[in-house]
Amino acid sequence: MKKEKLFPLGGPVSEEDIVDRENFLSSLTNRLLEGQSITLAGPRRIGKTSLALEVLRRLRKEGCYTAFVDMFRISDRRDFALSIIDACLENRTGIRKTVSELIGNIKNIAGSASLALKLRDLEIDFRLLERDRDESRLLDYALDLPDELARKEKKQMVVVFDEFQEASRVAGGEIYKKMRAHFQMHKNVSYLFLGSKEDLMKNIFASSKQAFYRFALTLPIPPIPEDAWIEYIARKFASAGLTADEDSVREIVKLTGGHPQDTMIVCSEVYHFLLEASEKKLSLETVRIGYERALYALSPLFDRIIDELNETPHSGKVLKRITRGERAYSRKEHPNEVKRAIDFLMTKGVIEKSGRGVYKFTEPMFQEYILRELS
Ligand SMILES: Nc1ncnc2c1ncn2[C@@H]1O[C@H](COP(=O)(O)OP(=O)(O)OP(=O)(O)O)[C@@H](O)[C@H]1O
Ligand SMILES: [Mg+2]
Repeated sequence: MKKEKLFPLGGPVSEEDIVDRENFLSSLTNRLLEGQSITLAGPRRIGKTSLALEVLRRLRKEGCYTAFVDMFRISDRRDFALSIIDACLENRTGIRKTVSELIGNIKNIAGSASLALKLRDLEIDFRLLERDRDESRLLDYALDLPDELARKEKKQMVVVFDEFQEASRVAGGEIYKKMRAHFQMHKNVSYLFLGSKEDLMKNIFASSKQAFYRFALTLPIPPIPEDAWIEYIARKFASAGLTADEDSVREIVKLTGGHPQDTMIVCSEVYHFLLEASEKKLSLETVRIGYERALYALSPLFDRIIDELNETPHSGKVLKRITRGERAYSRKEHPNEVKRAIDFLMTKGVIEKSGRGVYKFTEPMFQEYILRELS
């Protein structure tokens, strides 16, 4: 059997590993229950998908139907429609891929009969499900299915679209208009839209020219407080029989700034170092080593971001100043240019505002990485 990772990395975390976020989670859950649709946009790897999946677990406990559609995994319009249909029908059938089961089961009369019985009232047009059929009608059917299902069951339904900004890549620029036209009629469904490209998300939800203008409430994702991290990290190390004094743990959170994934990576590297060295106790020294290893592990990712930023030379200059802890604005450059560079860096999720004219890195480890390159 595969051993569970002590510190979860590289994907949504399970209920026990969600550090803090309790208030935010219950606020999200309540608002969705009240029928309020919500948008969460935030940089990569800060825990959006983890939050959404936990909200869905809670909503199911409240008796809601739920559906989760990850736009990154979808290739075209048909795939999009089928993913929505599958995610909806799973509430009834308990099967992940009901549609392929339905199609594959046609020969197995008994199997298909019992499945079809469960779905009898939904008026699924099986011919639409076949390949090469009218995709547009299939998509219309799919987009209305959440409300249809909720109405038939007299239940509330919550649908999550992860990486929502990808919808136009998948189904063309007109897709937002089409979705809005359907969703605004839905009385029993609330929607949670997640996106990692903040500029695109902003455009979809905050531009008065866009179909989704004011459709959903946009909420900022709060950071994880330092004390919550410290409690969690100490508890985790203890569960593996390792002693973690508060100073060492605090040092980890100080170095990572509490960035969700970076903190987990450093913890994981510290843990593996302790195992390799057969040590039983964290120290500032082992934290340092874990940190260096984590920085090394993150370097390909950071290099990719740097390449992307270098496409606009101006933002490079501004970023260097912020990296060194200097003010973003400089006498040598026109304020408008600097502002544009700052906006660009913010939409890329690299920096965030921390005061008037003052900006800080979203990911302190990225700042450290650039600092070392500069020196
Ligand atoms: N609340 C949390 N507590 C602890 N760790 C977290 C939390 N949220 C996220 N993480 C860490 O961050 C990683 C990424 O989480 P998740 O996939 O939910 O983020 P995301 O914002 O959806 O990322 P992406 O932009 O890649 O889709 C997790 O594997 C975990 O290491
Ligand atoms: Mg995600």
